[in-house]
Amino acid sequence: MEIIILPTPADVARTAADAIEEQVRRGPCVLGLATGSTPLGTYQELIERHRTGGLSFAQAHAFLLDEYVGLPSAHPQSYHSVIRDEFTASVDFGADAVHGLDGMAEDPQAEAEQYEARIAGAGGVDLQILGIGTDGHVGFNEPMSSLGSRTRIKTLTRQTRQDNARFFDSPNDVPDHVLTQGLGTIREARHLLLLAMGEAKAEAIAAAVEGPVAAICPASALQLHPHVSVLVDEAAASLLAHRDYYTDTFGRKPAWQGL
Ligand code: PGA
Repeated sequence: MEIIILPTPADVARTAADAIEEQVRRGPCVLGLATGSTPLGTYQELIERHRTGGLSFAQAHAFLLDEYVGLPSAHPQSYHSVIRDEFTASVDFGADAVHGLDGMAEDPQAEAEQYEARIAGAGGVDLQILGIGTDGHVGFNEPMSSLGSRTRIKTLTRQTRQDNARFFDSPNDVPDHVLTQGLGTIREARHLLLLAMGEAKAEAIAAAVEGPVAAICPASALQLHPHVSVLVDEAAASLLAHRDYYTDTFGRKPAWQGL
């Protein structure tokens, strides 16, 4: 894992956008997109670069990490709608290039298996953007998710439903169930970009990065991946024991090496 501590959330967004831009400019690729508040600054940055810098997503495909079960895709809080409104409709992805899970599928397990097949059919994910939950989840892989899990239905923890209540009219409107790529699925992406900002994420980041690999902190499974960039602001990094080491190493990294 490479831990990169940046001064502000805006620096995290810019650095993540740099990595995505580099991937997209290299040619056809498959991006893994996350929803939630964390990547919004990155998406804004990419939209700006599309508008003013000619950055094109016309040759890219995108796969979402997860979706609420029971929300029709037209619901404003379905991740299908959120990613369209926050990012994909403002750039130039092809008409059928943004893929998500169907939260209304009659057979969620069949939907999950088909989704895995669609990812594999596209050649796998080149660059996966990830946020982290306060309970250490990535995607919606809640604590005790199998480190080898595949796309499947999960039940949200009370903590996650509380955390996400801000997006809904009432806390009771947050769905209980979701479809999410599994930790095994996420770990097959070729490069993982884990983003976290703010003090509320400091504990989860410390457990994920410096704690043991353990299902109680699902994000710790990323330690098993050969290419992970963890981009955190000072607040999210505040509980890391080895901050000086990470800062020193990144400061002396040759520019040609990239992320
Ligand atoms: P957030 O959520 O980006 O809205 O903080 C992250 C997550 O739950 O994975």
